[in-house]
Amino acid sequence: KRTQVAIIGAGPAGLMLSQLLAARGIDTVVLERHSRDYVESRIRAGVLEHQSAAALRAAGVGARMDAQGMAHSSIDLAFAGAHHRIDLEGLTGKKIMVYGQHEVVKDLIAQRLADGGDIRFEAEVNAIEGLDGDQPKVRYTHNGQPHELVCDFIAGCDGYHGVSRTSVPSNALKVYEHRYPYAWLGVLAEAAPTSDELVYARHETGFALYSMRSPSVTRLYFQCRPDEDPEAWSDAALWAELHRRLETGDGWTINEGPILQKNVAPMRSFVVEPMRYQRLFLAGDAAHIVPPTGAKGMNLALADVQVLAPALVRWFEAGDPRGLDSYSEVCLKRVWRVQRFSVWMTRMLHAQPDADAFEERLQQAELASAAACESAARHLAENYVGLPLEAPA
Ligand code: FAD
Ligand code: DHB
Repeated sequence: KRTQVAIIGAGPAGLMLSQLLAARGIDTVVLERHSRDYVESRIRAGVLEHQSAAALRAAGVGARMDAQGMAHSSIDLAFAGAHHRIDLEGLTGKKIMVYGQHEVVKDLIAQRLADGGDIRFEAEVNAIEGLDGDQPKVRYTHNGQPHELVCDFIAGCDGYHGVSRTSVPSNALKVYEHRYPYAWLGVLAEAAPTSDELVYARHETGFALYSMRSPSVTRLYFQCRPDEDPEAWSDAALWAELHRRLETGDGWTINEGPILQKNVAPMRSFVVEPMRYQRLFLAGDAAHIVPPTGAKGMNLALADVQVLAPALVRWFEAGDPRGLDSYSEVCLKRVWRVQRFSVWMTRMLHAQPDADAFEERLQQAELASAAACESAARHLAENYVGLPLEAPA
């Protein structure tokens, strides 16, 4: 079997790339190690930037998002016992869309399959070969049988733990990495949200985030130790911690409900440069991880493939390699700006285990500045709703 672009991974990056290329008549095969049911029900990110929502609409997969997603025009910063509204729409003219990553994935899969697209689930890629030639090959296992797929290009959209990045000779890539001394305990609860904005709370015992997935499902997170065992938390203890960190005493309270899921997500910053090796292009989490506090992971994945798709189209339609040659540089500019924003939000909102009293005061001043000073709030808002997509080189 042969295809033009072999796409490894059916996450937001791989599926959106397949969708964008199909619209221009370019043939792709998406190889995904997990089942369709698994990728469609895996709860992960929840916030789409203005531009990401627009891109999904433009790609023909925005209808359910527009019907069921929740457009938010502000977020709330809670600290020092009070709530502070950051008026995203007033400051930037843009809103964000609260819509689960698994819903985005569902919509993209449904559209690709309806259009006759080729997505192979439970197809695990084991090796990539021939990257130095012009007919690279992907080896994968499907139904216990070995298969190979020959292609012109490979898109490594297989996340942080995928095979794409590790198939590149290590001296061809430079890795930048940072770890954090905390993680997030995430809770999904069948409880109607009591706020129409997301609440980012800095409590003295640590960060907490109030988010949602639908009018009947609340998504909550709170800062914990990286080695925390979610099973060691009873439901009552989880709710007590969430009440303590989120409710500031101004009367706003959160609803409790049956807990559907709880998990601990590690936190790291990671960037690999460049995002290309010969005929392999890395996109999304395969190339970079940001700490989750800015809600940027899925958005960066979607931004990468909006640069990669037109670059591949230019190569296939006109033999012009310039878009492919500038892909890594164009993406990395955004990646580092988003990394900076995510790290800033993370440090501003988390209790730093090793902070001295001076640093604690600085952190409070940072929050006060973001809430009280219009230019600081605008800076936060502009980054939160998303930086404009860069023009291709
Ligand atoms: P992914 O969505 O990870 O997709 C990669 C796909 O490749 C996966 O489906 C995987 O099964 C497949 N794959 C991997 N290896 C192979 C192989 N060898 N063969 C075939 N297929 C393979 N971001 C936020 O902004 N907010 C959040 O709350 C948030 N929560 C998260 C929770 C968790 C547990 C994780 C892991 C991430 C979270 N993120 C969050 C980050 C966000 O979900 C990612 O940035 C986003 O999924 C990136 O999309 P992607 O398409 O690059 O990769
Ligand atoms: C969600 C996750 C985030 O990391 C964030 O900053 C906001 C919302 C969420 O899962 O809903």
